[in-house]
Amino acid sequence: MIKKGGYYYPTKEFKKRAWINKSSVYKEAKKNPVLFWEKLAKEIFWRKKWKKVFSHRPPYFKWFSGGKLNITENCLDKNLEERKNKVALIWEPEPVEERERVLTYYDLYRQVNKFANALKKLGVKKRDRVGIYLPMIPEAIISMLACARIGAVHTVVFSAFSPTALRIRLQDTQAKILITADGYYRRGQIINLKQNADKGIKETKVRKLIVVQRAGNEISWKANKDVWYEDLVKNEKDFCPAEVMDSEELLFVLYTSGSTGRPKGTTHVCGGYSVQAKFTGKWIFDLHEDDIFWSMADIGWITGHTYTCYSPLLNGITFIIFEGAPDWPTPDRWAQIIEKYGVTTFYTAPTAIRMFAKYNGKIAKKYKLDSLQILGSVGEPIDESAWQWYFREVGEKKCPIVDTWWQTETGGILITSLPGIGPFKPAFTGLPFPGIKFDIFNGEGESLSPRKVGDLVLLPPFAPGLLRGVYKNPKKYLKTYWSQYGRKIYFTSDAAFKDKKGLIRIVGRVDDVIKVAGHRLTTGELEAAINLHPNVTECAVVGIPDKIKGEVPVAFVVSKKLPEARPLAILKKEIVDQVKKEIGPIALPKKVFIVKDLPKTRSGKIMRRILKRLFTGEKLGDLSTLANPGTVKEIKKCLKVGDKRS
Ligand code: WT7
Repeated sequence: MIKKGGYYYPTKEFKKRAWINKSSVYKEAKKNPVLFWEKLAKEIFWRKKWKKVFSHRPPYFKWFSGGKLNITENCLDKNLEERKNKVALIWEPEPVEERERVLTYYDLYRQVNKFANALKKLGVKKRDRVGIYLPMIPEAIISMLACARIGAVHTVVFSAFSPTALRIRLQDTQAKILITADGYYRRGQIINLKQNADKGIKETKVRKLIVVQRAGNEISWKANKDVWYEDLVKNEKDFCPAEVMDSEELLFVLYTSGSTGRPKGTTHVCGGYSVQAKFTGKWIFDLHEDDIFWSMADIGWITGHTYTCYSPLLNGITFIIFEGAPDWPTPDRWAQIIEKYGVTTFYTAPTAIRMFAKYNGKIAKKYKLDSLQILGSVGEPIDESAWQWYFREVGEKKCPIVDTWWQTETGGILITSLPGIGPFKPAFTGLPFPGIKFDIFNGEGESLSPRKVGDLVLLPPFAPGLLRGVYKNPKKYLKTYWSQYGRKIYFTSDAAFKDKKGLIRIVGRVDDVIKVAGHRLTTGELEAAINLHPNVTECAVVGIPDKIKGEVPVAFVVSKKLPEARPLAILKKEIVDQVKKEIGPIALPKKVFIVKDLPKTRSGKIMRRILKRLFTGEKLGDLSTLANPGTVKEIKKCLKVGDKRS
């Protein structure tokens, strides 16, 4: 990489290899973004060509309507022609002593077809929703594709989510089938996933639980409901015709945290998503035939859908999925994996990078990481020092860092500089992808000049992969995305600014979403969980900056119903457990403070900003709107005493 005035550019040799290396691509796309996407769409396989590329009846829009396709024909059948025996997927299990599993494109094709046939036999039809609650094992990828093969809508639920979180999602989608596993390894322990699944399907419509054998742990079994995955697929045929899907039909529903307690199901459709997933992957990670791509994201998140599963397959490359934690059993496990497989493209989150930096220091000297060509970052802003460490120690100053901005809602990456063009600048995500139009608005909907912070908004024609709705909740769709600046402007909920070259820097969310180790949570959903505790009167959760995780939740709880004799330490522990039960271990508050009252405005709104500043020690600012200024002193005292009080 070449450095010039704070910006980094790819070298000549690097440019030579890159699919996209001329900035004229931006100009061309800008002239006619609809035509630009149409050209790309022509490069994937359609059963029937579309009638109209983009249609817009604000806020609703369609891409490639009238077109028909099946994403699995693009992921699998197409690849059999040229790369039948090429390795598609390498699975690295968590236990170091266990052997990896390797599936060629043909292997994957057969497994997907077999399972698709089995699902059909169980009565799964086009448009039916199927729940997937699986760890990172090959069957997770196979299950998603098997659903897509027959036109069933997959809803993946992160395997570390609690039974309650699983139940909420299954109830919302009315799924009748759930695919799970007996267990999986996490930091040397076997997690009994089947037990969580059993709890989670209570009070849902799930009538069959398909269980993949993974960890061999003991599980309970209900003969009328449970069925082994292996038994189901054993005698199935190797071929299942792909359901011909309309471009605008649902491919999947994925839940994410919104501005209120309940998660919302973002809906993604077959056509536009396929086009965007293929070409953002191809251009941003510069995917070539001989690449070994490793995206660390779990399939429970959108990154896991688009870049751990669909995009590598759409591009016919070899990719890795990893069951475990990147720092287990030793903090350098991630580097071992890169060396073992000769990974060329590595995609992870700033939280992981900061953790690697903390434990691994000068890792590059110990492992051969020189296979790496491109490094990716996603999920939260990457600070300059993490960027520099990643650049220097992992990429040995030769790999571009693509800092990719996107959201569950956008289906694929929308902002990042392209590796063959640049420029790259630490802490800036980069330029909008060609054919994508962003702006930064002040509250009045006026475009802001460089360096001014405002709302990041997406303008028509949006993106082919952008969500089409919130599952069964059209009102929420309108209110969340299409109401701040009218029906023609997509509101991202992020604040951002541009530099003089137009590179975008993300400042953070403007709603109550917090990014904890890159995971998306809302303070509202944590509060809803905590409020379920019988001794809690009210509470407020705020996100506090954290050196490794970016942000962590801290809870302030008022408990007027607590019997005098009950130690606060027990209440605090129960509150933490309550969050674990309702959401899962990723959401645990770092600290819980029991306070007498919360700072409120005269209209009764809790002022979370003050709580946050009290915790971080920042200046409190204007307190004149507070109805109960006395609380500030009380909370200050409580923070000072901290845990000692209990
Ligand atoms: C929110 C979306 C997109 C896949 C994973 C996250 C934040 C995402 C970046 C980045 C700064 C980022 C935004 C966004 N975010 N990528 N490169 N730099 N912030 O998807 O869980 O739906 O979260 O993550 O705040 O709105 P998600």
